Amino acid sequence: MSEGSAHKRGLSPICTHWIDIGLLQEIPQQGARVVETDAGDVAVFRTLDDRVFALRDRCPHRGGPLSQGIVFGHRVACPLHNWLIDLDSGHAVAPDEGCTPGYPVRVSEGRVFLGVRDGV
Ligand code: FES
Repeated sequence: MSEGSAHKRGLSPICTHWIDIGLLQEIPQQGARVVETDAGDVAVFRTLDDRVFALRDRCPHRGGPLSQGIVFGHRVACPLHNWLIDLDSGHAVAPDEGCTPGYPVRVSEGRVFLGVRDGV
């Protein structure tokens, strides 16, 4: 369980506040939930080993909804054309190329917090 641990990106100085998006248990293992932000939808993923990751909910290929993809390991397969996206970096796995932005996320006392900039 990753409870209490902060994702490394959570220490970024661009993160100005954290949004409480609910209980970790509410996100299905190997699934995701979508959080609407002013900058667009963010997909928050929960892996089988209870790590959490957050990426913009747009595949770098043609904008497919990554939140509807299949999570295995620390990757998600886009539901449209099956590109694999690394949940930690947001990069497409070779030979595909591209990247979707990531967001800091952490779990504290069983609740998941998404780090966002003011107005994002
Ligand atoms: S839109 Fe994701 S693989 Fe094509």
